[in-house]
Amino acid sequence: MKFDFFTTSAPHVIGVDISSAFVKMVDLSADKAGYKLESYAIVPLAKAAMADGNIANLDSVVDAIRRALKQLGTREKSVALALPAAAVITKKVLMPAGMREEEMEVQVEAEAHQYIPFPLDEVNIDFQVLGPAPNNPEEEVEVLIAASRKERIEDRIAAAEAAGLKVVIMDVETYATEAAYTMISQQLPNGAAGQTVMIADIGASMMHVDVLHDNQSVYTSEQSFGGSQLTLEIQRRYGLTPEEAEIGKLRGGLPENYELDVLQPFVQTLATEVARAVQFFTSSTQYNHVDHIVLAGGCAAIPALSIAVQERTRANTVVANPFHGMKPGSAVKTRQIASDAPALLIACGLAMRSFSQ
Ligand SMILES: Nc1ncnc2c1ncn2[C@@H]1O[C@H](COP(=O)(O)OP(=O)(O)OP(=O)(O)O)[C@@H](O)[C@H]1O
Ligand SMILES: [Mg+2]
Repeated sequence: MKFDFFTTSAPHVIGVDISSAFVKMVDLSADKAGYKLESYAIVPLAKAAMADGNIANLDSVVDAIRRALKQLGTREKSVALALPAAAVITKKVLMPAGMREEEMEVQVEAEAHQYIPFPLDEVNIDFQVLGPAPNNPEEEVEVLIAASRKERIEDRIAAAEAAGLKVVIMDVETYATEAAYTMISQQLPNGAAGQTVMIADIGASMMHVDVLHDNQSVYTSEQSFGGSQLTLEIQRRYGLTPEEAEIGKLRGGLPENYELDVLQPFVQTLATEVARAVQFFTSSTQYNHVDHIVLAGGCAAIPALSIAVQERTRANTVVANPFHGMKPGSAVKTRQIASDAPALLIACGLAMRSFSQ
């Protein structure tokens, strides 16, 4: 296994996102015309299978991976996984230009000592040269170092291997989201050149925010907030089990007052949270506004959300579809894509690692 946060091309891999509530997989192929979405799968995880981005119940996770693979219907065994951003420490440092790879490795270790709060033999480290240092381009290069505790990585590999898979890439969720975002920026006016774009990924338990300016990440934040709050409210109001509440939420059949009394207030709360994230961003950075908001994560599939967010923030708001313009494979239910796509950003970005970018 290559521990490689920064690989940009690799042999064919399936993108596998092990999130708090689901195992999601995406299988892409590519030719001159662009990407093709061969298949994807979204399989729910048993309750408490994951805790804080860690695998809490290995058997449940392995079981969900197996079921997702079966849905995907592929023989491919190579996969790309990602670690949650919170499990990875990243740091930009300056180093003398013109160093050889081995010299750089030594230097990276020395630098890493200074800011990694664990013994170095307990961490995996990777680095990438970003380019000449802005303030001293002749003599220095800017290097991005990423480090994670080995156990965080090994846990995920163990789950994939127990399901018969081979992990060839270990990425970071934020980077995978940004890779998938390249498919979305194309859909924004002028390819979002020079624009400030906030990706708000609202999943089951977390809201991840990533702001890009001129298509480069300039800010990230996360907060504990998501669709499970709505599920809980449905349970409480109507005396349902978590499973019943989740089904009702996705397929309908809840009491008549659900839309007005439960869903609409939740949508307003979500819109307020996104607006607050915009405020935090503008007040803590040099940027004073956001041009576009890209809504991602399962909650982005709630029909009224984009209008509510647009009204609240006054930023052009779109729902993420990284598969826009991709030919769907014969196994893909095309009617389902638009509502499933927003939750598949990470899995899609991981699958894109198969192809040089
Ligand atoms: N069509 C829909 N309408 C309403 N809610 C939906 C819809 N589709 C998915 N959701 C909700 O979105 C949430 C799942 O989103 P997602 O798949 O992004 O979560 P996750 O990645 O597992 O969570 P996290 O990123 O927090 O770990 C669930 O709460 C689910 O009920
Ligand atoms: Mg997620």
